[in-house]
Amino acid sequence: MMPSITTLDRPSLPLAPTACIRLGVLASGRGTNLQALLDAASARRIPAEIVAVASNRHGALALDRARRAGVPASVFQRTEFPARAAQEQAVVDFLRQHGVELVVLAGYVPVLGATLLDSFHHRVVNIHPSLLPAFGKTLHAQADALRHGVKITGCTVHFVTSQVDGGPIILQRAVPVLEGDTEESLSARILEQEHQALPEAIGLIAAGRVVIDGDRTRILPAE
Ligand code: GRF
Repeated sequence: MMPSITTLDRPSLPLAPTACIRLGVLASGRGTNLQALLDAASARRIPAEIVAVASNRHGALALDRARRAGVPASVFQRTEFPARAAQEQAVVDFLRQHGVELVVLAGYVPVLGATLLDSFHHRVVNIHPSLLPAFGKTLHAQADALRHGVKITGCTVHFVTSQVDGGPIILQRAVPVLEGDTEESLSARILEQEHQALPEAIGLIAAGRVVIDGDRTRILPAE
């Protein structure tokens, strides 16, 4: 059964904790966040199973990670479809075939359109390497943080809406920006936190503790 994420505009009790949430992960690149989820799930640190992985890029390392873990992995490249909606529909069909309940964007580059977002309303989360709303809508959030001279940055896990990098925030982790940091060193420090934050956010959702309240979320206390 599809777990429901409570929204206060449709008041109802928060969902009972799911025994095991079925995740579909979309990734375009090396897939270290996917790996963090695979590791957390197989070690039973989160009540989740990664049941499908999709990419828009042939050759994405994330696909190898999925296959090594025995997870079905497919590529849906934009140029192989007549329009974005058709590509997204193929991704939706793939995710549905595998009974996906929650979609995780783990370094997925394409901006999602209505086809995917409407099919998984309030059930798509993303991880972004900055403290949103700072340094959103970019693939260079870490470089932008350095350029602006901020002293603290971090990562954000949030629900995906049609507002790019603007959906309700689930959790954030801060990291210091150190003197002498390069884009690489800062990115590595943030990535370490991403690998903690993403599984933690999934754990909160699976536990039924995340309530969407308009533009924000509320995190319910543990039982
Ligand atoms: C991460 O920095 C994530 O925040 C961003 O894309 C990167 C993906 O890294 N959205 P990886 O492919 O999970 O290693």
